[in-house]
Amino acid sequence: MTAIPTFTTERLLLRGVLLSDAAAYQKIFADFEVIKYLSSAVPWPYPENGAEFFIKNIVLPNQGKDRWNWGIFLKENPSELVGAVELFRPGKPENRGFWLAKKHWGKGYMTEAVRPVMDYAFTNLGFEKMVFANAVENTKSRRVKEKTGARFLEVKPANFVNPEITHSEYWELTKEEWQGP
Ligand SMILES: CC(C)(COP(=O)(O)OP(=O)(O)OC[C@H]1O[C@@H](n2cnc3c(N)ncnc32)[C@H](O)[C@@H]1OP(=O)(O)O)[C@@H](O)C(=O)NCCC(=O)NCCS
Repeated sequence: MTAIPTFTTERLLLRGVLLSDAAAYQKIFADFEVIKYLSSAVPWPYPENGAEFFIKNIVLPNQGKDRWNWGIFLKENPSELVGAVELFRPGKPENRGFWLAKKHWGKGYMTEAVRPVMDYAFTNLGFEKMVFANAVENTKSRRVKEKTGARFLEVKPANFVNPEITHSEYWELTKEEWQGP
């Protein structure tokens, strides 16, 4: 496992996910409201050892190589994971995923969390552009893209955990657009 950097924002701490985060991850991620807009690659019902399996077998062996998975923590409670932001390369085509415990939605946390991650992606990881995606119905995720300067590309068919959701919006953000003139 390659270490990935820790970031501090006004209210949050982001650090590489560890196996010791599995219990907190499982508790808040195994929630249909959190999972329903994610790719159908995520199993539902979410298995009891789902978070442990994911962290042990998918995240840790690839951490800092072709995926970067930061746990999100509140500064006021830095031992309990409340969400995650992940980058991957090559894209699926999207290069980023994120989620937050439902009780923490609506406080601006994800917009705050993605900023240092994008800075790092463009400045240190060599991304020239990134692609993002969200279910057409996922207005909350769309808002994070809009607020961080992503450009809408197109709508295409895609599969989600909720099989009634059939289309994804795709977005793009270049290094120049992110870093500005
Ligand atoms: C999508 C998701 C990560 C959004 O997280 P979030 O932290 O609520 O998102 P934001 O950072 O946009 O904050 C939302 C709202 O908080 C409000 N807010 C409250 N206090 C704020 C503050 N201090 N600063 C900024 N915004 C604040 C804002 O009104 C903002 O809404 P806006 O769009 O009107 O600006 C979350 O809903 C989630 O985990 N969903 C399930 C998983 C998912 O869908 N993942 C994405 C798959 S593509």
